[in-house]
Amino acid sequence: MSTEWTPSSWKSKPAKQQVDYDDPAELADALVRLSRLPPIVTSWEVEKLKKQLAEAGRGERFLLQGGDCSERFADCRSDLIDAKLKVLLMMSAVLVYGSGKPVIRIGRIAGQYAKPRSEPTETIDGVSLPVYRGDLVNRVEFNAAARRPNPNNLIEAYSRSAMTINFIRSLLTGGFADIHHPEVWDLSGLGSNAQTDEYHALVSQMRASVRFLDATLGRPLEDLATTEFYTSHEGLHLDYEQACSERPPLRTGWYDLSTHLPWIGERTRDIDGAHVEFFRGIRNPIGVKVGPTMDPAELIELIRVLNPENEPGRLTLIVRMGAKKVADKLPALIDRVQREGRVVTWVSDPMHGNTYKTVSGTKTRHFDDILGEVTQSFAVHADAGSVLGGVHFEMTGQNVTEVVGGSCGLTEADLATAYESDVDPRMNYAQSLELAFLVARELGKRRR
Ligand code: PEP
Ligand code: CO
Repeated sequence: MSTEWTPSSWKSKPAKQQVDYDDPAELADALVRLSRLPPIVTSWEVEKLKKQLAEAGRGERFLLQGGDCSERFADCRSDLIDAKLKVLLMMSAVLVYGSGKPVIRIGRIAGQYAKPRSEPTETIDGVSLPVYRGDLVNRVEFNAAARRPNPNNLIEAYSRSAMTINFIRSLLTGGFADIHHPEVWDLSGLGSNAQTDEYHALVSQMRASVRFLDATLGRPLEDLATTEFYTSHEGLHLDYEQACSERPPLRTGWYDLSTHLPWIGERTRDIDGAHVEFFRGIRNPIGVKVGPTMDPAELIELIRVLNPENEPGRLTLIVRMGAKKVADKLPALIDRVQREGRVVTWVSDPMHGNTYKTVSGTKTRHFDDILGEVTQSFAVHADAGSVLGGVHFEMTGQNVTEVVGGSCGLTEADLATAYESDVDPRMNYAQSLELAFLVARELGKRRR
């Protein structure tokens, strides 16, 4: 690999999953407009997250990363953003209680608009059109106008990302996450079952602790009102990521300021490919998906390229093997990383290795496989004297029916009731909270 990195050096490498725009001038114009807009995040926040991810890698914090497989422009609405934030905050409260550690909250949000696809085109009744690649690129409806890659979507995606994070920041600084405000923390609509009862008990315990601290201080514990929240998305569309990158004043080096934590997907992590070339040169913390075909030698090579200085927090490995493979594949990867003295933050994504299609062709995942992959990952790390620093979920604050199982008892026959995702199936509100309790229990077992 050449050592000369520039923001466009990726262009000399093979780039998978890129878009064929039919008007290069229109694309160039959109990219120039994009590059002049103010950043969505700042390098200060990005560096702070990197430090916290380093702590998660050492077991001093725990990472909760979650959100939609893919955001849609139409979902940039206050009620939906509010619901997504609420479920993430609830889950993180459960995890804090279980682990006794601070939790880093990162949404797959405010920019998760591009999707890798297995085919460049889709054919229905003899008609072939470009495949839907996420709202960053085109629209999902099956007609030529909708499927045409439209450079203006880049600006639209950036604007909606900014609106989304602006609303989230405003909610959080306004006290949305403050445990003093009971309305955010109640479980309206879920009724009473083992999970919700356990959750309500936990919230009353938290309130009692807060009352105690408030009384001790003689004033409300104000720091509870300001909760940190970070964004992430798959850094798939390299023209977009490049246009959003800059060298901030008073910093050395380039930052991708479209998000705090960009990650490289399983399909674009080739060592000699354009994605690895682009992301090796920016200073953000970055994630890399690690699937079952990764072998230890390849992983070490990838780590060397992406984190040559072995900087803690720089690299998060998001392992997505599947419940049937993780116990077999993960130990050798951990062992090699340990023997080479490489510092990484290990995270489990128990979603992407567990997707299957029902006989009627609907994409789903089983709650037990999701839980199984996480619990096995905890065990493998514990056996190796290593640390599982976090979890990565596809989930939503809505009551959708996309994942089967869990104590809400969803079956394959229920999937059609409220299946909304255009891409991967997400856990609903109840399933997400249930999983948070089960992960908290695992963390509790290992509490030092
Ligand atoms: C995703 O996170 O939605 C995704 C496409 O994952 P992976 O790259 O692990 O397949
Ligand atoms: Co997905």
